[in-house]
Amino acid sequence: MIKKIESKNFEIENAHSLHVAKQHGRYSSLERLFSMSSEEVLDEVDKSGLRGKGGGGAPTGGKWRLIPNPSDKPTYLIVNADESEPGTFKDRQILEYDPHLLLEGIICSSYAIKAHHAYIYIRGEYAFWAKRLQEAIDEAYSEGIIGKTILGHDYELDITLHRGAGAYICGEKSALVESLEGKRGHPRLKPQQKEPEWFFGCPSVVNNVETISSVPYIIKEGFVAYRAYGTEKSPGTMLFGMSGHIQNPGVYEIQFGESMSEFIDKIGGGVKDGKKLKAIIPGGSSTHVLRADEIEDITLDYESLRAHGSSLGTGGMILMDETVFMPDVVKNLFEFYHHESCGQCTPCREGVGWSDKLMGKILDGNGTKKDLDTLIDLSFILNGKTICVFAPSVAYIIDSYISKFKDEFYSLVK
Ligand SMILES: Cc1cc2nc3c(=O)[nH]c(=O)nc-3n(C[C@H](O)[C@H](O)[C@H](O)COP(=O)(O)O)c2cc1C
Ligand code: SF4
Repeated sequence: MIKKIESKNFEIENAHSLHVAKQHGRYSSLERLFSMSSEEVLDEVDKSGLRGKGGGGAPTGGKWRLIPNPSDKPTYLIVNADESEPGTFKDRQILEYDPHLLLEGIICSSYAIKAHHAYIYIRGEYAFWAKRLQEAIDEAYSEGIIGKTILGHDYELDITLHRGAGAYICGEKSALVESLEGKRGHPRLKPQQKEPEWFFGCPSVVNNVETISSVPYIIKEGFVAYRAYGTEKSPGTMLFGMSGHIQNPGVYEIQFGESMSEFIDKIGGGVKDGKKLKAIIPGGSSTHVLRADEIEDITLDYESLRAHGSSLGTGGMILMDETVFMPDVVKNLFEFYHHESCGQCTPCREGVGWSDKLMGKILDGNGTKKDLDTLIDLSFILNGKTICVFAPSVAYIIDSYISKFKDEFYSLVK
């Protein structure tokens, strides 16, 4: 079940240092990389079927092709290391145990889109990981792996690490770019057609840490080797997280398409303390909750989760045992989203706060059926009327928890 592509070096002592990283294969994809043209690299990633691992699952090659070629302006690669989705802690494993894997991925990906400057945007609170990454960047500069040339190859690349100030919304790609430009981290209005991101008016791509870290394997071993794992539509592997009431919490790399319940039992060791499973949030708090009786046929890939009314998201699974009271979970989530709304859109700014207050009133024993109806109405107001998908995520929380655990919510109101 476990397939180590990205996590191959995680357990090797000091694999975060360049010396050890190189002994264990880091930067070995570069020889093949520079024997190919940028277009060939793009083709290889396209054919691998690599999909973004930051939550949305967009095809990576397709995103890179949005960059005009040739471009009359400089192009940029921006790596999203904001990782703030509750239940998600996989990118930090890469940054902690194998930061040179990310840097190798950045070199391959920048070459594909002809970028000569890449930025890594890391959440402000992640001081330890920022330090570790900066040390790796400094090592790479001092050994001539990045800078004026790449290990003697005629390609110039600079990498800059930028620390955010600590806001969940800055993980949303357009808010991230705004923040990187020195402005307030507000999501931008979405274009009607697919476009690259625009960083200071220049075409750019924003990709997740794990997505970029998947690229060196594809370049070194070829797209066929990557497609040997996973399913036709969800090829390869992913770092799946398990937290909450699970015997062996952690991050495990498995190929897409494995059974969710087998993953929980065999790798996770089952529910903690022999209790019964009640529910799972499959891919970070923004994904629809699943009842235990819904997961039997689910496989861990984009298509299966979608077919079961949820989504794979970040692969960060939160397990809840039979003792968990769902209205408490919803209150906890509302407090988080209330705090993190950027406030640009009225339905989100007002609606998320209102939902939080209503849930508090209901949990305090002062709620009525009308309050629950208002909450359900609010989910309509939050969905599809805002600049970004933050507000719809809150609508999904209202919809999925109240419909699936109706009795618990109605038991609280008069
Ligand atoms: C509210 C919100 C928060 C997000 N946070 C993150 C994040 O912390 N890390 C991340 O990689 N993507 C995050 N995303 C998704 C990004 O907008 C973007 O889709 C992703 O970085 C693209 O990379 P990928 O194609 O490699 O997955 C977030 C999206 C939203 C709406
Ligand atoms: S939906 Fe919420 S978080 Fe997203 S832009 Fe609007 S106010 Fe900001």
